[in-house]
Amino acid sequence: MKPIVSKDSVVYFGQECYTALNSYLDKANHSKICILVDSNTHESCLSLFMSKIEKEYDIEIIEIEAGEIHKNIETCSGIWNALSELGFDRKGLMINLGGGVVTDLGGFVACTYKRGINYINVPTSLLAMVDASVGGKTGVDLGNLKNMVGVISESEMVLVDTEYLGTLPVEQMCSGFAEMLKHGLIQDRLYWEKLSDLSKLELDDLDQMIYDSVVIKNNIVFEDPTEQNIRKYLNFGHTLGHAIESFYLTHPSKPTLLHGEAIAIGMIMEAFISSALLSVTSDDLQQISEVILATFPKIEIDPKDYQKIIALLIHDKKNEKGTILFVLLHTIGEAKYNCIVPDELILKAFDYYGSL
Ligand code: GLY
Repeated sequence: MKPIVSKDSVVYFGQECYTALNSYLDKANHSKICILVDSNTHESCLSLFMSKIEKEYDIEIIEIEAGEIHKNIETCSGIWNALSELGFDRKGLMINLGGGVVTDLGGFVACTYKRGINYINVPTSLLAMVDASVGGKTGVDLGNLKNMVGVISESEMVLVDTEYLGTLPVEQMCSGFAEMLKHGLIQDRLYWEKLSDLSKLELDDLDQMIYDSVVIKNNIVFEDPTEQNIRKYLNFGHTLGHAIESFYLTHPSKPTLLHGEAIAIGMIMEAFISSALLSVTSDDLQQISEVILATFPKIEIDPKDYQKIIALLIHDKKNEKGTILFVLLHTIGEAKYNCIVPDELILKAFDYYGSL
């Protein structure tokens, strides 16, 4: 599979990842290398990754706790301190081996340590392969608010090797699948239709599907790396999805929602709003709802919580001058950003999801 080239980075696939990595390491002459893992990828992915490095380098392993609740500034502090104690200078390299938490947080640590050292992302979850590790967004959560602190700065390269997915739990695979569905909904009806009929997909199709998703994301990021305009499309489903995710994160009595599970709900609700304000037809809305619910079982959201979730929308990063701005769909495959949605329609969207 041909590497996908962005403005400042390259995404490699399969075995070509390691040819590119070894040649980069050979040439770059880093003073030290840190591999950031979490407790899961330390166990399941590190030995495979290490076996692909051909020469001896000065490599340190730094492990963080797995899970979204550790994606915070305290974890970053621990890593900054460790890098400092280990004597990392500006010629150090950080390799983030993990899912979205590791690549987002590790990227942020690298971009800020001594005002920035090089980093490489090696995504090990489907979500990180198709979304988090591509496009240079790095950052951490602030309390329960998602990705509130961070910078956009591309990694040296992204290495997508689907062998790492072998040990990924099914629900984590589904979480990544939500972002792939999003790529179809915002940009490519044909891709959406291919993904929609899971019964026709074989496991062998996965590599191509991941590749197609990265192409869609990369084309958008290439044109608008700092999210001034069309990169906002990638937030479809995320305005309500992030608010729902944040709400569930801070209410331990509620079920735990993975990012993709929350985004799946957000996409159904925002498709409903699109059908009310733009040209999504009722057939398309029904298809979107059915396809998403075929992978993501319905979550019962207590109507008493609707307003509490809506209150969280004020923190959305796309808001301007206090106005909440949504990404909606004109139709499947075509999105629109900066859409203002009346509160009563948001409430109707909760009711629509509840009625499914
Ligand atoms: N995950 C959305 C973006 O990278 O813009």
